[in-house]
Amino acid sequence: MLMSNRDIFIKNIFSSVASHIDFLSSFFSFGMDNAWRRKLIQVSGIQDGTTVLDVCTGTGKLAFLLSRQVGAHGAVIGADFCEDMLRIAAGKNNPRTANISFIISDAKNLSIPDNSFDIVTTAFGMRNIHDTVCALGEVQRVLKPGGRFFCLELTTPKISWFFPIYKVYVFKVIPLIGRLITKTDIPYTYLPKSIETFFSPREFRKVMEQIGFHDVTVYPMTLGIATIYGARKASS
Ligand SMILES: C[S@@+](CC[C@H](N)C(=O)[O-])C[C@H]1O[C@@H](n2cnc3c(N)ncnc32)[C@H](O)[C@@H]1O
Repeated sequence: MLMSNRDIFIKNIFSSVASHIDFLSSFFSFGMDNAWRRKLIQVSGIQDGTTVLDVCTGTGKLAFLLSRQVGAHGAVIGADFCEDMLRIAAGKNNPRTANISFIISDAKNLSIPDNSFDIVTTAFGMRNIHDTVCALGEVQRVLKPGGRFFCLELTTPKISWFFPIYKVYVFKVIPLIGRLITKTDIPYTYLPKSIETFFSPREFRKVMEQIGFHDVTVYPMTLGIATIYGARKASS
């Protein structure tokens, strides 16, 4: 599939920050990104032996936590379209994570057969994909009947006293520090815009339901700056 200009733009952003992103994600979120990933695993109830596809896996931060959770009898595949991000993920592999593998694949056109996985996850990926419906359709296609989808995404907080503080931090402080560290403007000015323009939790829930997901659950995290979504593919 030919890449659109928008996809090339996104892929280049992640290529340019690949070597900094693990540090910066935790630095900018005061370590909360890891707490949110762990919360996703907790609400998912993923157990030993589960097969999981982690879409937009990036440097594999969520994928490696999943790998520990599913154990030797389970399997985790991390999929991403950015080779530079996957290279860093693959470099973290060790003998204890033999159940994890990484593939280059566009979330809108996954190179995976239908009905393959018990669980599909994605963290901080969905808002980067311009065709959300297409990506959610792919998630549904590769899930087994009755399989579940868990998505962690950054969202705009709605609490009135907190919003101005959030806005200054995300729109001013993060781009400034991001530019100093990465030596480029684009990634960390793109970040707040991508959060602002993505669906609100209420809208995203509706989109998932329209696609045909069942039991959509929304878990707001840390004053609403992140949200975890859970949903189930119909059983037949
Ligand atoms: C913020 S990073 C991922 C973080 C990772 N999931 C984690 O938990 O740390 C977002 C990732 O989405 C990937 N991405 C964006 N659009 C994509 C697409 N259409 N197909 C596959 N990967 C995509 C980017 O290459 C990037 O690696």
